[in-house]
Amino acid sequence: MKFNLNRYLLGLSFAIDCVESELLGVTTNHGKRVAYVSMRMAKAMGMSDAEIFDIAALAILHDNGLAEERLTHHGGHADRLYQVEDLPAHCLIGEGNVSAFPFQRVVPGIINDHHEHWDGSGFFGRQGDAIPLMAQIIGLADYTDLVCRFQTPDPANWATIHDFVNQRKGHAFSPDLVDVFRQVSTSPAFWYDLHDPFIQAALDRTMSEWTVEITWERVLEISRVFSRIIDSKSRFTLSHSCGLEEKVGHMADHFNKGAEERLKLRIAASLHDVGKLAIPNAILDKPGKLTDEERQTVTIHTYYTRLCLERIPGFEEITEWAANHHEKLDGRGYPLGLGKEALDFNARLMTVLDIYQALTEERPYRKSLSHRRTMEIIGKLRDSGEVDAQIVDEVDRAFS
Ligand SMILES: [Fe+2]
Ligand SMILES: [Fe+2]
Ligand SMILES: [Fe+2]
Ligand SMILES: [Fe+2]
Repeated sequence: MKFNLNRYLLGLSFAIDCVESELLGVTTNHGKRVAYVSMRMAKAMGMSDAEIFDIAALAILHDNGLAEERLTHHGGHADRLYQVEDLPAHCLIGEGNVSAFPFQRVVPGIINDHHEHWDGSGFFGRQGDAIPLMAQIIGLADYTDLVCRFQTPDPANWATIHDFVNQRKGHAFSPDLVDVFRQVSTSPAFWYDLHDPFIQAALDRTMSEWTVEITWERVLEISRVFSRIIDSKSRFTLSHSCGLEEKVGHMADHFNKGAEERLKLRIAASLHDVGKLAIPNAILDKPGKLTDEERQTVTIHTYYTRLCLERIPGFEEITEWAANHHEKLDGRGYPLGLGKEALDFNARLMTVLDIYQALTEERPYRKSLSHRRTMEIIGKLRDSGEVDAQIVDEVDRAFS
């Protein structure tokens, strides 16, 4: 089938940017801005469409390793992105996470090297042209955005940014790239494009359509790039999305689903909690009971899952199955409060299996539960009309 890779990437970029927005407490669109500046520079340097797609994808994904980084080094309490970015591990983790992404031309090592400096003063001491060119471009956009904030609307900031970049010519940045940056940043529109309200439109305009002939199997493999990032956010969910994907596949066989439906269900499972990237770890990893306000905060994750997936052509059913996994048949689920008429069989299946998967995993406030104990709890939800009775009974049979 034909699949629009850039729609897919732009949809999920929202969730990746949430990782960093958690660190700063605001939606900053950092990855999108780094992608925009990198693409403008790549175009000015005469890179091919395939290379421009790659640099946009890499820029959007460049800080994906922060999802896990926060966990291992900061216990979920980093207060500023700049401090967290200043750690080499997020480069290594990020590089490993994206190895299955279908880049067009790219050589490995770009995310790994996005904090290298031209003069060798970066994390790993690589120097000059030993740093891949795309890593140099992303590095310039990234470093400059972190310090000077491209989104600051004040035109005085334009001069500040030019001074910042110029002062680092031949030090942090290659002299040639500093010249390219100057060239692309002469027009006021370049700066307006970087403001939060306009960055999405600017990306849509700058990134050419990238439609590829691809199988659903391959889309599943790419989706696992994201499910790995999602699961890495908390040690309690390390196997949540992949475990759900496996169980959904098992039940799809159990119910004799066709090959394509089965793959779509697995894709929905692998991305169902992508919105969790926007939920602070302080809530996800809280050892005690959540307050009412914290519980409300968690409910936004499926709203975000819908936002990420709904604009991807071909993902219409996947979006419903993924984003409705906390909806209940009695209309008392979230975030839409849909009733049974609006929830098809696969959405109901996803709900039951998500509960099953979560209860059989350890949580900060309890140990993992056995199949029996899990089915007792799900049985109560069945009896109160919240989840589908037939599906509950079949899940019990399939996993006992
Ligand atoms: Fe970084
Ligand atoms: Fe960054
Ligand atoms: Fe969820
Ligand atoms: Fe989940």
